[in-house]
Amino acid sequence: MPLAGRSAYILACAVALGAASGAASTNSRDIKLPPETAVLTASPLPGYQIAAQKCSICHSVDYITLQPPAMSLKQWTGEVAKMQHAYGAPLDDSEIKPLAVYLTAAYGDATSVPAADMTVTGTVPAAAGIDVQALLDKNACLSCHTRDKPLVGPSYDDVAAKYRNDPKAEPTLEENIRAGGTNRWGQVPMPAFPNLNAQELKALADFVLGQR
Ligand code: HEC
Ligand code: HEC
Repeated sequence: MPLAGRSAYILACAVALGAASGAASTNSRDIKLPPETAVLTASPLPGYQIAAQKCSICHSVDYITLQPPAMSLKQWTGEVAKMQHAYGAPLDDSEIKPLAVYLTAAYGDATSVPAADMTVTGTVPAAAGIDVQALLDKNACLSCHTRDKPLVGPSYDDVAAKYRNDPKAEPTLEENIRAGGTNRWGQVPMPAFPNLNAQELKALADFVLGQR
C-alpha cells in the first residue's frame, strides 16, 4: 500500500549497518535519521509489546500508523506475514496472531477482531518502559494519595471502586489526572499535570484502576 507520510523513513540497510558496526565507519556521521514522529499506541494486548520491539527495526512507525483505518484482522495478518516472509522481519510464527490482533485493534477495523482475542487476562501491564513508581514519586502523587486511606485526595482504592463499572474509566482518569480539577471528591483541588505524556497518563490510570 502506498505511503503518504512525509516523515516515514526506511532503514533499508539496517542489517548491513548492524553488521558493520564493529568496523570503524567514516561515513557514520553522514547518516542522519529524521526524528521519530510517531509512537505505537500503548495497549494491554500482548501484541503491543512485540510490535514495540520488532516493528521499528527497519522502518518508522509511520508505516503502520498511516495504513488505512478500515484494514481488517485478515489484512493486518497478511501484512505482518509479509514482513516476516518477504522482508525478513525476525518474527516467530506464534507472534503473528497477537501482532495482527493488536495492530487491527489499534489501527484497523477493531470490529473484525473476535471478542475472545481482545480479552486480556491477568493484570494490565503498564505501557512499555514506564516505571509507575518513579512517576508517582516524581510528581508527588503519594503526598496527596495513599493506596487505602483518604489523605488530601481520595485513596486509590476508593477511586478504583468508584469507576469499577464505568467502561470509560481509563480515558476519564487519564484526562482527570492531566487536567486536575475539583468537586469530584470534595472542595480540595487536584493539581493539573500537563507535563505527563499520553503513555504516562495511561500507565498511571492503569495503576489506579488496578487497585480494585
Ligand atoms: C526486516 C525489516 C522489516 C521489519 C522488521 C518490519 N518491516 Fe514493515 N516493511 C519492511 C519493508 C522493506 C517495507 C517496504 C518499504 C517500502 O516499500 O518502502 C515495509 C513496509 C511496511 C508497511 C507498509 C505497507 C507495505 O506493505 O509496504 C507496513 C504497514 C509495515 N511494513 C508494517 C510492519 C509491521 C507491523 C512490522 C512488525 C510486525 C514490520 N513492518 C516490521 C521491512 C520490515
Ligand atoms: C496536591 C495534592 C495532590 C497531588 C500532588 C495529586 N493529587 Fe490526585 N487528587 C487530589 C485531590 C484533592 C483529588 C480530588 C479532586 C476532586 O474532588 O475532584 C484528586 C483526585 C485524583 C484522582 C481521581 C479523579 C477522578 O476522576 O475521580 C486520581 C485518579 C488522582 N487524583 C491521581 C493522581 C495522580 C496519578 C497524581 C500524580 C501524578 C496525583 N493525583 C497528584 C490531590 C492531589
